[in-house]
Amino acid sequence: MRMKLSGKIALVTGAAGGIGSSTALCLAGEGATVVLSDCDREGCIAVQNQILELGGSASVITADVTKEQEVVGLFAELNASVGSLDILVNIAGGDREPVADVDAIDYDSMSRNLDLNLKSCILFCREAVRVMRSRRYGRIINMSSLVYRGSPGQFSYSAAKGGIFSFTRSLAMAVGKDNITVNALAPALVDVPVFERVLGAERWKAMSSDAASRYPMQRIATPDDVARAALFFASDDASFITGQILEISGGARL
Ligand SMILES: NC(=O)c1ccc[n+]([C@@H]2O[C@H](COP(=O)([O-])OP(=O)(O)OC[C@H]3O[C@@H](n4cnc5c(N)ncnc54)[C@H](O)[C@@H]3O)[C@@H](O)[C@H]2O)c1
Repeated sequence: MRMKLSGKIALVTGAAGGIGSSTALCLAGEGATVVLSDCDREGCIAVQNQILELGGSASVITADVTKEQEVVGLFAELNASVGSLDILVNIAGGDREPVADVDAIDYDSMSRNLDLNLKSCILFCREAVRVMRSRRYGRIINMSSLVYRGSPGQFSYSAAKGGIFSFTRSLAMAVGKDNITVNALAPALVDVPVFERVLGAERWKAMSSDAASRYPMQRIATPDDVARAALFFASDDASFITGQILEISGGARL
């Protein structure tokens, strides 16, 4: 049986992380050559080794997504090495502002959240479209979050994820004529190792069980739940779908 992404080149950011590594493995499993990017080089190499062991194809180009020159450099290196780009999955991100009341919003933390989540997404899309336009083909998948709907205490993070939603729609309107689709993923809570690392086992268990009990499907998402949604948008199964945000939430906030 033909794999869904045979012959395609995919760039995945945040590829050393929980969702990024699963997505990279999922796309590689469907035949894509995956370029893994993250600021964590060791993490990327571990994922690259996993892909190579499974018989897939992967390379690593590290970059800090908040630094324009590093992102521009990444695309120059990508052009020089693999020479083209079919799929971009913008996953790098995270919440860098401690939960706080609105009057305690810290300017630097807020700026970090906007830089890491929203501005990086716009920057990667700009660079990717430059490559994709000339080839009249592209699939862009941006990482929003269910908090795009609003989340008290996560002011700048939810604003950044909401901004990704509107940017995704704007870009979809602009580049549809170039045969480029642009969609976004909006997961609810996903079971990734970073939570236990940051919160400790006990707090993470309490937080994840509480979320699971509130979701109609009574569990939180796995990274693979998200990866397979990214695969859908990257594949020809979604060839006429653009400008959409897909909630991967087990029915949370219905
Ligand atoms: N885990 C969840 O519950 C959840 C829910 C909704 C959305 N998301 C989003 O999914 C994405 C992936 O998150 P995750 O849960 O896999 O967390 P994660 O921390 O495991 O992955 C994030 C990755 O981004 C990388 N990164 C961070 N800053 C970077 C920078 N400046 N330059 C390059 N790389 C950088 C990290 O090294 C890490 O590998 C994020 O955008 C996050 O906001 C996560």
